[in-house]
Amino acid sequence: MKALAVFPASREVKIVDRPEPDCAGPTEVKLRILEAGICGTDREIADFRYGAPPADSPYQIIGHEALGEVVEVGSSVTGLVPGDLAVLMVRRPCPHDGCGPCRNGRPDFCITGDFTERGIKGAHGYMTEFVVDDERYLVKVPKELREVGVLLEPLTVAEKAAEQVRVLVQRLPGNLKDDPSNLNAVVIGAGPIGLLGAMKLVDGGFNTWVYYRGQADSPNGRIVSAIGARFLSSTEHPPADLAKIVGNISLIYEATGVATISFDVLSVLGVNGVFIFTGVPGVRAPIEIDAERIMRNLVLNNQVICGTVNAGRDSFEEGVRDLESFMQRFPAAVRALITARMTLDDARDAVLAKGGIKSVITVA
Ligand code: BGC
Ligand code: ZN
Repeated sequence: MKALAVFPASREVKIVDRPEPDCAGPTEVKLRILEAGICGTDREIADFRYGAPPADSPYQIIGHEALGEVVEVGSSVTGLVPGDLAVLMVRRPCPHDGCGPCRNGRPDFCITGDFTERGIKGAHGYMTEFVVDDERYLVKVPKELREVGVLLEPLTVAEKAAEQVRVLVQRLPGNLKDDPSNLNAVVIGAGPIGLLGAMKLVDGGFNTWVYYRGQADSPNGRIVSAIGARFLSSTEHPPADLAKIVGNISLIYEATGVATISFDVLSVLGVNGVFIFTGVPGVRAPIEIDAERIMRNLVLNNQVICGTVNAGRDSFEEGVRDLESFMQRFPAAVRALITARMTLDDARDAVLAKGGIKSVITVA
């Protein structure tokens, strides 16, 4: 079968031929990959700036956002049957007995750093024809979500963030927890992670603003208004305007991976506010930030900064429910996130190219 591989040593990205995997253990499931999404992480790996192949392989099969159809199940698999649709989780636990999170199904909180991530770090990914994995890493997706199920993995970034925010809000005294001014949220960035985050916020009842360098009449900007969020162009409005226009900003969801704009916006986070970082910037030269202002605000306004990497099983399951809800509320906007579909033969060009919102490889 074909797979898209990145060779860090020879700096090549190409389709390789691999043996088709089969279920070896009783809890394993074999999936025919239907679609695989491309994200910034794949582009970084294909640019040899991120990720690591499995220890015994000269190359890394990339792809960590995949929707598949079950074609074979091991004898003790209980939750899936052939014909079901499923999405694969990304992180796999480290091998150390002492790692509580990994031993308890939360490798997203691994304390040793020896976790693997399929398609990213130490394990092959999903930009291929068939994948076998243990049932515990698969999440069933209803057939009605066939068209957009490939968006589930990027949505789990927002789901994990929401899980963190629910905990962080508990610190507020009772009367503040349901204060309506606590429902102003700003999303920085209008790529897939930002737009899916904005959908989650709108669906959760937040007054949601998306702060983005593009224009309101771009495809991204049109999705923002279609879901009932408001668009603010960062090229027209400096961060100081944001606070004036929005009012008290209780929640900022960062989805750019760019530190300059993120810290600029952090400086206008409101009273008792929470700032969630989701982006992974490349390693570049240090930047200048208004650290004293930020530190003063953090202290005097009881602010929290929280980084989050996705995601546990609960976030995937909540994502399935949310994707169903989004498809009820604004189906055209959800569909519009996928701006290109191409075949596995064209996957290399698609990963190396930029543009559009979400490109998806259609495998079967
Ligand atoms: C993936 C996550 C992963 C992160 C860091 C993201 O693109 O969606 O699953 O944990 O990159 O490698
Ligand atoms: Zn990703």
